Amino acid sequence: MNLRRATVADLMDMQNCNLHNLPENYQMKYYLYHGLTWPQVSFVAEDHKGRIVGYILAKMDEEPTEEAHGHVTSISVLRNYRRLGLANKLMQLSQQAMKTTYGAAYVSLHVRKTNRAALALYKDTLGFEVVKIEKSYCAFDAYSMQLNLK
Ligand SMILES: CC(C)(COP(=O)(O)OP(=O)(O)OC[C@H]1O[C@@H](n2cnc3c(N)ncnc32)[C@H](O)[C@@H]1OP(=O)(O)O)[C@@H](O)C(=O)NCCC(=O)NCCS
Repeated sequence: MNLRRATVADLMDMQNCNLHNLPENYQMKYYLYHGLTWPQVSFVAEDHKGRIVGYILAKMDEEPTEEAHGHVTSISVLRNYRRLGLANKLMQLSQQAMKTTYGAAYVSLHVRKTNRAALALYKDTLGFEVVKIEKSYCAFDAYSMQLNLK
């Protein structure tokens, strides 16, 4: 398994992975926007044949306040490759890049309240905290979470 920074050439495969794994889907122009604007903070996991089996699509805050912060737009790992630590590693690579490239003070994300696996990843493994409950985020109730990177 190889983890590396995502390139524009990977975006179609990332979208494909997303469509298999999540109800929150995005148009290709949104992937391109991420890839072209913040190329340092999105990563992929590929198998021994170079197939994309997981990704993290991330960005920096678009309306910078005093503190720069990163945001995870989407992360997923194909079913056969789960529980191998890939999402944990992808998150850490992105967080490190947000910090070193942009001086991010924290990283934010949204997660559906019912998404047990993702909640365990963010809360128990990575140390994120719930900062807000978002009613009807993408038609679901969700937690808005943050992790301090300082
Ligand atoms: C959530 C998701 C990305 C996790 O990917 P993964 O590569 O399997 O996660 P990891 O192997 O890095 O797991 C790290 C930790 O997260 C937690 N975790 C992961 N999957 C879990 C599950 N099914 N149930 C409970 N905890 C889970 C565990 O604490 C795990 O540590 P452990 O294996 O040492 O117990 C994956 O399940 C997925 O793609 N789900 C569908 C898409 C999705 O929900 N994305 C998140 C949107 S907010």
